[in-house]
Amino acid sequence: MYNLLKGKKGIIFGALNEDSIAWKVAERAHEEGATFVLTNAPIAMRMGEINKLAANTGSEIIPADATVMEDLENLVEKSMEILGGKIDFVLHSIGMSINVRKGRHYTESNYDFTHKGFDVSALSFHRVMNVLYKKNAMSEWGSIVALTYMAAQRVFPDYNDMADNKAYLESIARSFGYFFGRDHKVRVNTISQSPTPTTAGSGVKGFGGFLSYAEKMSPLGNATALECADYTLTLFSDLTRKVTLQNLYHDGGFSNMGISDVIMDSFMEGKE
Ligand SMILES: NC(=O)c1ccc[n+]([C@@H]2O[C@H](COP(=O)([O-])OP(=O)(O)OC[C@H]3O[C@@H](n4cnc5c(N)ncnc54)[C@H](O)[C@@H]3O)[C@@H](O)[C@H]2O)c1
Repeated sequence: MYNLLKGKKGIIFGALNEDSIAWKVAERAHEEGATFVLTNAPIAMRMGEINKLAANTGSEIIPADATVMEDLENLVEKSMEILGGKIDFVLHSIGMSINVRKGRHYTESNYDFTHKGFDVSALSFHRVMNVLYKKNAMSEWGSIVALTYMAAQRVFPDYNDMADNKAYLESIARSFGYFFGRDHKVRVNTISQSPTPTTAGSGVKGFGGFLSYAEKMSPLGNATALECADYTLTLFSDLTRKVTLQNLYHDGGFSNMGISDVIMDSFMEGKE
């Protein structure tokens, strides 16, 4: 442990169960000396798992649907009361596509589903920053991070409309990040994470194949949820103060690969 976040206060969205990337971020942030509020959609809390995380990290839970402005306003106000001041870090770890869930093919999108998925997965990031900005809730040199996936840049057919949502999310990070940097010295970045076995990840069709392909393509192998948490903490720490408006790949090198020996070998059988 490095005491990287000693004395820092945060809000962590998206811890659903112990597989969640946000869950690992919360555990690691606690170990590094941070205090924070946990939040998730009221419906996601019915399973009650988040209570365990709250107990283990000494955190309070404030339910908020990230598509509802009043919920977010209440969350930010209460968090500042509970934590006793402005917020140093925020993690947006939220994603959901009804088209994916219902197995709708991308070319046959149900646009009501598309709207809802966009609202939850992309626009919610704008809403969160809007509330933080308006309420002047972030400390100077604070840090806001959202999680994304490389389907925003390259085609992964089964990622469906989440690819478009992630492209929009990454753009919001840059656009809002400009104003947050200029006016409040707050940095805003996205982390583009390897495929990771979580509830959201496993919902993508053919996820198992996806996971092993990426593993074999990446020189360092896939990054785990815990490793993603470690990387996220560096962005919350004071060691990365001038990193902003970036989409940062945390994927074992996958994003810059063309082909790896292992993948090549699987195509060479019987060819030489
Ligand atoms: N798992 C992967 O392969 C992978 C890869 C790259 C990026 N990501 C991203 O990481 C983030 C976290 O996902 P995860 O993999 O930990 O899965 P997860 O299912 O554990 O987390 C998704 C979270 O979004 C929350 N959520 C859904 N609707 C909400 C709403 N209306 N308001 C507030 N919260 C809501 C869920 O309750 C859940 O906690 C997502 O943005 C996801 O797209 C995941």
